[in-house]
Amino acid sequence: MRRTTVKAALAGGEGPGAIRVMGWVRTRRDAKGFSFLEINDGSCLTNLQVVVDEGVEGHDLLPELGTGASVAVSGELVSSPGKGQRFEVHAKKLELLGPADPESYPLQKKRHSDEFLRSIAHLRPRTNKYGAMLRMRAALGQAVHAYFAARGFAWVHTPIITGSDCEGAGEMFRVTGLTDAEAALPPKERAEKDFFGKDAYLTVSGQLTAEPLALALGKVYTFGPTFRAEHSDTSRHAAEFWMVEPEMAFADLEDNMDLAESLLKSLVRTAMNDCAEDFGLFAKYVDPTLPETLAAFVAEPFVRLPYKEAVNILCAAKKDFAYPVGPGLDLQSEHERYLAEEHFRRPVIVYDYPRAIKAFYMRQNDDGETVGAMDVLVPGIGEVVGGSAREERLDLLEARIRELRLPLAAYWWYLETRRFGTAPHAGFGLGFERVLMLVTGIGNIRDVMPFARTWRHLEF
Ligand code: 4AD
Ligand code: MG
Repeated sequence: MRRTTVKAALAGGEGPGAIRVMGWVRTRRDAKGFSFLEINDGSCLTNLQVVVDEGVEGHDLLPELGTGASVAVSGELVSSPGKGQRFEVHAKKLELLGPADPESYPLQKKRHSDEFLRSIAHLRPRTNKYGAMLRMRAALGQAVHAYFAARGFAWVHTPIITGSDCEGAGEMFRVTGLTDAEAALPPKERAEKDFFGKDAYLTVSGQLTAEPLALALGKVYTFGPTFRAEHSDTSRHAAEFWMVEPEMAFADLEDNMDLAESLLKSLVRTAMNDCAEDFGLFAKYVDPTLPETLAAFVAEPFVRLPYKEAVNILCAAKKDFAYPVGPGLDLQSEHERYLAEEHFRRPVIVYDYPRAIKAFYMRQNDDGETVGAMDVLVPGIGEVVGGSAREERLDLLEARIRELRLPLAAYWWYLETRRFGTAPHAGFGLGFERVLMLVTGIGNIRDVMPFARTWRHLEF
């Protein structure tokens, strides 16, 4: 008897024969003389239908095989006469592995709200929607690696514990090994007493350590968790999220835009083509416009627009924004979404932002006012990618660090990469969850991660 999965059984590649398959009961229907079980083991969206005739071994267990119970079925895989499935199993033997009391099992066969499902994040992966999301998340993660491997990028592992604030926004979680008493010491003493002998944090980005690696290996990328202590309780911010950060030596802002556009399109194609069954669920139940929107996403070039022109468009817009727009002001998410959703109705790359509102490492343009920064804005979400050309000129970088009153000495190693064999380079960070929101139509970042960590929420 072959042990198999629901996915393999339904695909029928192995042909008919005796199989053993295990999974969770989604539904049971009893008829005269026989029962149907729909079982799912998480390997794919579709359930496997099991026909249980009266008298098969374990038939007496049927009353306990309700929604949520786990079961092992041994039987014969046969072509199905029913519509919608090629194969079904005629059970020879049923084993109850784990019962689920129907009175208290929270996932009954009906549609539950996202809010309710968030409160049972340990069980929601057993629903169709979250199962599909998690399989797509896995497939897209693999696709990130395949994309870069095919283009000669080395995957590098940058530290999660850091002493420096890459973005300079000061939104970092402190990492400490101190006792309460030691933590109450004055800052300098406290830092000296701590594990590293200095203040330590969870990183907000792998970029600063990815740069020296790119300036050695040429093309690298990181793909891992990052952390932000932003107090933004929005549908697009998580305290812990995954970022893909490529970094390329001998590259400029245009190379960076090309890479971001190509990577995003490639991930969207993976979602539509390689995850067709799960994608179909999102297109049917979450956002019916998804196939059309995403087909246009991959077919058309992204708009590329200097910040200055973006501001002109926003100032001319007949729209009441909550936040002001104007030269020198940062774009808020309502402005980003207006550009992508209403004005252009497709992805927009805004570039050449005012230097005053951007991080210290961005390459200064000749106009003395702007830096070679870029953000990719997409309809429905806003920013999914943020990146820049990096300041590779030692004197300009040093001057900028001083100007911003950042601790110059702490950046000695970063500056040395400019002192010795510096080279133009560029990179960006792609928010992995935001891409998942894009390809599933799911509107809340809490629902594209298995166990979300957000402002005021640390359950599970
Ligand atoms: O624009 P950000 O802050 O860029 C950086 O951190 C650069 N150091 C990246 C680089 O150049 N290597 O963040 C990059 C992306 C954003 O565009 C967004 O998609 C995502 O990370 N992101 C978040 N996603 C979820 N929750 C949050 N709190 C996020 N903050 C940023
Ligand atoms: Mg950004």
